[in-house]
Amino acid sequence: MVGASLLSFLLLATCASATRVPDRFIVELDSLEGLTSKRLYSSPHDALYHGLRKRGIPFDVRTQYDTKDIFVGASLALSSQDKSQLASIPGVKAIHPVVTVSSHKPINRRVVEAAGASLPDGESTHVMTGVDKVHAQGLTGTGIKIGIIDTGVDYNHPFLGGGIGPGHKIVGGYDLVGDNYTGLNDPQPDPDPLDQCNGHGTHVTGIIGANPGNPFNISGVAYGATLSMYRIFGCTGDTTDDVIIDALLRGYEDGNDVLTLSLGGPDGWLEGASGVVASRIAGKGRVVTIAAGNDGQYGAWYTSSPGTGKDVISVASIDNIVIPVQNATLHGVSHDPISYLSANALPVNGTLAVYATSTNSSVADDACDTLPDSTPDLSDKVVIVRRGTCTFAQKLQNIANKGGKVALIYNNVEGWTSITAGNFTAALISAEEGAYLVREFASHANISLSFPSSGAATIADTLNGGLVSSFSSYGPSYDMQLKPALAAPGGNILSTYPLPLGAWALDSGTSMATPFVAGAAALLLQARGKGAAKGMRGLLQATANPVRESLEEGALLQTAAQQGSGLIQVDSALGTKTVVTPAQLLLNDTAHFHGWQKFTVKNTDTKSVTYKLSHVPAGTALTYEPDSIFAADGPVNLTHTHARVHLSSAHITLPPGGSAVITATFTPPRLSASTLPVYSGFITLTSTTETLRVAYLGAVGDLHARTVLDTTDAFFGYKLPALWNATGGRQVGVQTYDLGEDDQPSVIGRLAFGSPLVRADLVPADFKLPVHARRGLLDAVRGNNTALAGVRTLGALAEFDYVPRSSDAPDADDNGWTVVPLNGTFVDGSRYGDGAYRVLVRALRVNGDRHASRDYDMALTGEFVVKEKKH
Ligand SMILES: *[C@@H]1O[C@H](CO)[C@@H](O)[C@H](O)[C@H]1NC(C)=O
Ligand SMILES: *[C@@H]1O[C@H](CO)[C@@H](O)[C@H](O)[C@H]1NC(C)=O
Ligand SMILES: *[C@@H]1O[C@H](CO)[C@@H](O)[C@H](O)[C@H]1NC(C)=O
Ligand SMILES: *[C@@H]1O[C@H](CO)[C@@H](O)[C@H](O)[C@H]1NC(C)=O
Ligand SMILES: *[C@@H]1O[C@H](CO)[C@@H](O)[C@H](O)[C@H]1NC(C)=O
Ligand SMILES: *[C@@H]1O[C@H](CO)[C@@H](O)[C@H](O)[C@H]1NC(C)=O
Ligand SMILES: *[C@@H]1O[C@H](CO)[C@@H](O)[C@H](O)[C@H]1NC(C)=O
Ligand SMILES: *[C@@H]1O[C@H](CO)[C@@H](O)[C@H](O)[C@H]1NC(C)=O
Ligand SMILES: *[C@@H]1O[C@H](CO)[C@@H](O)[C@H](O)[C@H]1NC(C)=O
Ligand SMILES: *[C@@H]1O[C@H](CO)[C@@H](O)[C@H](O)[C@H]1NC(C)=O
Repeated sequence: MVGASLLSFLLLATCASATRVPDRFIVELDSLEGLTSKRLYSSPHDALYHGLRKRGIPFDVRTQYDTKDIFVGASLALSSQDKSQLASIPGVKAIHPVVTVSSHKPINRRVVEAAGASLPDGESTHVMTGVDKVHAQGLTGTGIKIGIIDTGVDYNHPFLGGGIGPGHKIVGGYDLVGDNYTGLNDPQPDPDPLDQCNGHGTHVTGIIGANPGNPFNISGVAYGATLSMYRIFGCTGDTTDDVIIDALLRGYEDGNDVLTLSLGGPDGWLEGASGVVASRIAGKGRVVTIAAGNDGQYGAWYTSSPGTGKDVISVASIDNIVIPVQNATLHGVSHDPISYLSANALPVNGTLAVYATSTNSSVADDACDTLPDSTPDLSDKVVIVRRGTCTFAQKLQNIANKGGKVALIYNNVEGWTSITAGNFTAALISAEEGAYLVREFASHANISLSFPSSGAATIADTLNGGLVSSFSSYGPSYDMQLKPALAAPGGNILSTYPLPLGAWALDSGTSMATPFVAGAAALLLQARGKGAAKGMRGLLQATANPVRESLEEGALLQTAAQQGSGLIQVDSALGTKTVVTPAQLLLNDTAHFHGWQKFTVKNTDTKSVTYKLSHVPAGTALTYEPDSIFAADGPVNLTHTHARVHLSSAHITLPPGGSAVITATFTPPRLSASTLPVYSGFITLTSTTETLRVAYLGAVGDLHARTVLDTTDAFFGYKLPALWNATGGRQVGVQTYDLGEDDQPSVIGRLAFGSPLVRADLVPADFKLPVHARRGLLDAVRGNNTALAGVRTLGALAEFDYVPRSSDAPDADDNGWTVVPLNGTFVDGSRYGDGAYRVLVRALRVNGDRHASRDYDMALTGEFVVKEKKH
């Protein structure tokens, strides 16, 4: 997952984070008509290639884009050093680095066997959203075309139509990349989007289109719709945004009414190339749904792009109200069966004696270390182990090292959390039942367990069912857009899977919520006509149900920064006779406060309707730790203190076809800006038959005042930005490097808040941080290698646009920090020689002026010496 991490020229083995692909650029071109020398060329592309050749720049065209009303340009491979010359070619409108994008990593994925199993409440997600009622009216998306951009699909699945081509459910699409594509190698396109190795796209496709009548009693939200699959991932790995743009344009040109993308990476900015293209397609009256991201644990200001694209629908996830469980039978004591989280019985024959790795059921780090020598052979036991401290894999490996084959992991908190057991035969049980088994084991009771199949069974998720999934990413975006916009079921979702991989699987993620909304949009387009596409986001938002923070009585509404307008209600969206525009009011931060807002209410009913207007606040999210530059981790704390709203009317009565403009005047909550509170809520319109809501969102404080560059020692125990030596150790004192392959330093940096522009420059060791560099004092041309915002340097080492903040993950892959290796080359390709240097790192503040030195956070690394080997 990802975003363009601060400094990622370093392509790490597994690109969990969006990284820039070196020497690859997406160039956007003006139309030919815009060129003065247009007569010389047959196309804008021609003009570009001619310009490159004329300048003697070697290049390779990876993809050519030519969708006139959306995006004209090309994805080019050319040396980064020649990038600056690109801008001077007539017709070049914008240049974006190509970045890698991952499909959202699965939160938990378990393959389910169809044999005999049928979950009694397969339709739970449809009941949660009123889709069952819409199906009951005979609407299934017939006549609507949905393009799915994903890992491909196993169209041989009998419940996905069993084939591909005209007359089938899945009519076509394209494989833009081939099985072997990883995001780092060359795509091998072919027309067939079959996927029998990855699975993600088949799961997504089933959520939209699975036919009813299957063993699990589930169906797709719009199983009557016509589907196309655009495959942009291989069997494993990532993809790149130039491929996503290609898929978006194909999907658009093929006439799909809805395009859906369950992919992305933490970002927070609207400017990424694929987000811009997706947004333009939405602007042309197509519905574009994109996952908000699975990074809820990292807190606010962290939604994924391209879901951040302005006019697309960014989708949050809600947990299913039921979870599939199986019962293990307990022998040797009289006790109820032990329920474990799984759709199918564990593949265990016979009865296994219970063994607990600790007799203390509150041990924090159970089985995190090698098990003691006194441990018996565990091969004929079911091992009971407590969740916590280390990964499930580590615990299970320690158990396997003693012969263990079957394990039950008991929770260390209340409720059910999915676990990743990999190849191990293991499942989660509740904290309470774990403690019971440990107690019985400790008292030497001779107890054992067997694992019969209890048929398909579900239990109500009484802890988080119907609430926002804890993994669902928080917004808002740095430009204060409501991202995500709305939510749909995405936690614990059963759907189709490639036949060779098991045919059915349970999965969780905003990846699962996103196709749900695509399907919902198809139902509404079928009923209301394709003209409804432009207003689709607002229609779904106005009729959604905001959900609470917890199931406890009196709990606050969850912040709109995590749920958008709330859980979609498709039957309400279908039936509503009231049109509210806009359905979201964006109040911005205090420095750009837009507290006076208006919206229009229109009654399209044939009778007069009276609405009562009121204000329902959501909890205010305290997005930063108090008096700290660091974002608060999720779940983000909410407070009762909310905004006040004055409405121009408390009641309105509208005749048939009548409309009224309501003004809403907001006063932000009185809270200290130190935690960067994000407040939100709803203006509710209630008639005797309907409830509609207009969401609002704002921030207390000035985004520009937030520190972006982390210069503290909080993360590593030493101040940042820092230098690492060739072995990845922190450089202590002054160190000398010969810059040979095995002797290069790296700069390590972190961002505490997003930055529109981050630059690392080489400066002499005696360089002093400029205190009063005045705006415009020196050359401030973008792309000037030796000057930026009035500060003279030896040259730029790296430069990045629209950078997400760092997470607090303990690795660079998850965006915990960014590394820029220093190999003797500036970004423009020129080289620096022997000398004593430091690196100046500058990060522009949100809403800052790129030309103003005072708008940057700056810091210097320690000193290092370059002394190259003489040949
Ligand atoms: C299947 O779902 C329908 C509602 O969609 C329900 O009436 C029926 O009982 C379910 N069947 C099983 C076997 O769960
Ligand atoms: C994919 O990679 C494998 C292993 O490297 C290779 O054997 C196979 O031929 C490749 N397939 C294609 C279509 O290139
Ligand atoms: C599983 O056991 C619980 C009691 O612990 C019981 O309430 C439930 O009905 C059982 N479920 C099945 C499918 O047997
Ligand atoms: C359980 O028994 C069945 C039938 O004897 C056998 O096919 C299966 O492989 C066994 N499973 C395990 C996990 O031993
Ligand atoms: C599962 O086992 C197979 C074969 O032993 C191995 O190749 C694979 O890497 C394992 N996967 C995990 C997640 O441990
Ligand atoms: C908030 O203000 C900033 C600075 O003027 C602007 O760039 C941004 O677009 C505004 N956001 C909204 C939602 O109006
Ligand atoms: C969130 O609330 C808890 C409980 O009141 C408190 O311990 C914690 O410090 C708070 N976290 C932040 C980031 O404010
Ligand atoms: C790198 O730094 C570490 C820790 O500061 C040190 O132990 C190690 O020897 C250094 N490596 C080199 C090649 O200088
Ligand atoms: C970059 O800025 C420096 C300092 O103002 C100036 O001397 C130099 O000519 C500029 N270079 C370009 C290519 O604009
Ligand atoms: C240094 O790294 C950059 C970026 O990866 C690359 O373009 C350049 O060729 C490298 N220079 C040397 C001398 O290896």
